[in-house]
Amino acid sequence: MKLRRALLYTPGDSRPKIEKALSLGADTICMDMEDGTAYNRKEKARKTIAIALKDFDFGNSEKLIRINGVGTGLEEDDLAETLGNHPDGVVLPKVESFEQLQWLSEKIEEMELAEGWELNRIRILAVIESAKGFINLKEIATHPRLDALIFGAEDYAASIGATRTRGGQEILYARSKIVMHAAANNLQAIDVVFVNFKDTVSLKIDALLGAQMGFTGKQIIHPNQVAPTQEAFSPSDAEIDYAQRLLSAFESAEEEGAGAIDFEGKMIDMPLVKSARLVIERAKLSGKI
Ligand code: COA
Ligand code: MG
Repeated sequence: MKLRRALLYTPGDSRPKIEKALSLGADTICMDMEDGTAYNRKEKARKTIAIALKDFDFGNSEKLIRINGVGTGLEEDDLAETLGNHPDGVVLPKVESFEQLQWLSEKIEEMELAEGWELNRIRILAVIESAKGFINLKEIATHPRLDALIFGAEDYAASIGATRTRGGQEILYARSKIVMHAAANNLQAIDVVFVNFKDTVSLKIDALLGAQMGFTGKQIIHPNQVAPTQEAFSPSDAEIDYAQRLLSAFESAEEEGAGAIDFEGKMIDMPLVKSARLVIERAKLSGKI
């Protein structure tokens, strides 16, 4: 599974923005037909995305599409006009039930069979952004075509009647819940959009908070946000060095039969070893080692 540290939304009706996105080195580019595209530009977005999927070179960036939610009346046409050009995955917004994912998965499977494509290659990423979506998260997160859970904080806050604050206490419970259900089902967890795109210092703080909470990546909306976000979700050189030293100390002690050791003045046992292994795994996936 590709590590999606930065998932960049690009309005699907803007060919210049899609072209720009190709040059940014983002892990993932998500061409949007939902809220990033005005209602009277949906058709233009479908056509532009179809061309981009067919003709543009995405390099190492993953290419996703975001369709409109199930039940909007737009989702069938969104898929019909774009899926045939084989995106790497589909982001489904406003997910509130397992059945909605199943509907999308069956549409994808029909296309895979009709085109003779490898089955299950096109993945689904589900945006959870309503009270109902959270109530049903336990079932939603078990869908076999799912790769990631994405947290839509603005819609969620509106759905529960919360007011967004700087500290974000009003979303903390839901934000954590995404990480928990993702971890339990071996999915990636993709954190909130930071909308103030000119303030990259605060973005970095928010991205680091997400990484510390256990998110594997973050949704972003502007070129300025690519580098700081990818950095926040990659282990630092110091973290990698520490993890490598810890693992080698633990492995030598283990051979001598010790379960817990004194490592540079700290007690180290299995949970910390697991965390260190995760740091090494993420360092490899981010191309740092
Ligand atoms: N993807 C690709 N390119 C983008 C981009 C994006 N998300 N956001 C901005 N750019 C480009 C601009 O086109 C501009 O390109 P240029 O220098 O070649 O002209 C450059 O980056 C600088 O952009 P800037 O002028 O600072 O911003 P803007 O006023 O053009 O756009 C937004 C601001 C918020 C409208 C824009 O960032 C955007 O549309 N973001 C995505 C919104 C979205 O998809 N929302 C739904 C998901 S939450
Ligand atoms: Mg949304």
